[in-house]
Amino acid sequence: MRFQTLSTFALASTAFAQSKPVTLTGAFDCAPAGAFTLCQNQWGARAGVGSQNSTLFSASGNSVSWETNWVWANGPNSVKTYANVIHNSAKGMQLSSIKTAPSSWSWSYKTVSSDVRADVSYDIWTGVPASGDPASAASSFEIMIWLSGRGGIQPVGSQIVTGIEVAGHKWNLWRGPNSNWTVLSFVSAEGDLTDFNVDLKDFFDYLITNQGVAATQFVQAIQTGTEPFVGNADLLIDNFSVEIQT
Ligand SMILES: *[C@@H]1O[C@H](CO)[C@@H](O)[C@H](O)[C@H]1NC(C)=O
Ligand SMILES: *[C@@H]1O[C@H](CO)[C@@H](O)[C@H](O)[C@H]1NC(C)=O
Ligand SMILES: *[C@@H]1O[C@H](CO)[C@@H](O)[C@H](O)[C@H]1NC(C)=O
Repeated sequence: MRFQTLSTFALASTAFAQSKPVTLTGAFDCAPAGAFTLCQNQWGARAGVGSQNSTLFSASGNSVSWETNWVWANGPNSVKTYANVIHNSAKGMQLSSIKTAPSSWSWSYKTVSSDVRADVSYDIWTGVPASGDPASAASSFEIMIWLSGRGGIQPVGSQIVTGIEVAGHKWNLWRGPNSNWTVLSFVSAEGDLTDFNVDLKDFFDYLITNQGVAATQFVQAIQTGTEPFVGNADLLIDNFSVEIQT
């Protein structure tokens, strides 16, 4: 079964080079997406009822274009999934060694219900060892950047700073514990940031200076995607791009 899945992905990857979209429908399906891996990650789906599918359109260099369609009901306070792209090699660098980490993200809701509760977010993982899976015992910090948070949802913990300016945008910063790591979430104080273009180093520097994140921490993973709670939406990621230069 596992081998069958892998060979399907290999074929999907070939088809993708000919710009034929690949759609994932299984709860934990993943597919190669150029420099990234696209995963459905329906880790919280049991808290509700619904479905979600993610489609890869294209990938080139450090950029990727994809879409996710979802319908979720019940458990309005529970995240159902984190459909995301994870960069396969923008990791393993110590924060102190990063010269620049340019990232751009243009996205839109092609359709979205008025009762939607969902974020559109970066999920960046750091830790003491150079490598470690996201949300693992190797994780020290989970750094979220919410480009959108609709329907009154809140990040883990409590809001500790209001209206700070980082990377040219205004944010409210939330902080709280989760399992073995600390979650630090920058939530846009400007509404949806649909045409985002920043240096992620600005966020790292802010956290090192103001939130006790050690400069010796290693970036273990950079993910971007969406966390739906309830409602339905068709989220188009026109172009997401990220790289780390040391
Ligand atoms: C996802 O795909 C499945 C299987 O094709 C379909 O039954 C379901 O309606 C789709 N869900 C959404 C939200 O598009
Ligand atoms: C992670 O948390 C569990 C439960 O609190 C604890 O037993 C374990 O030692 C922790 N692991 C690390 C690496 O901190
Ligand atoms: C996506 O964004 C990157 C970084 O800004 C850019 O280099 C690339 O050309 C863009 N790709 C498309 C298809 O617009």
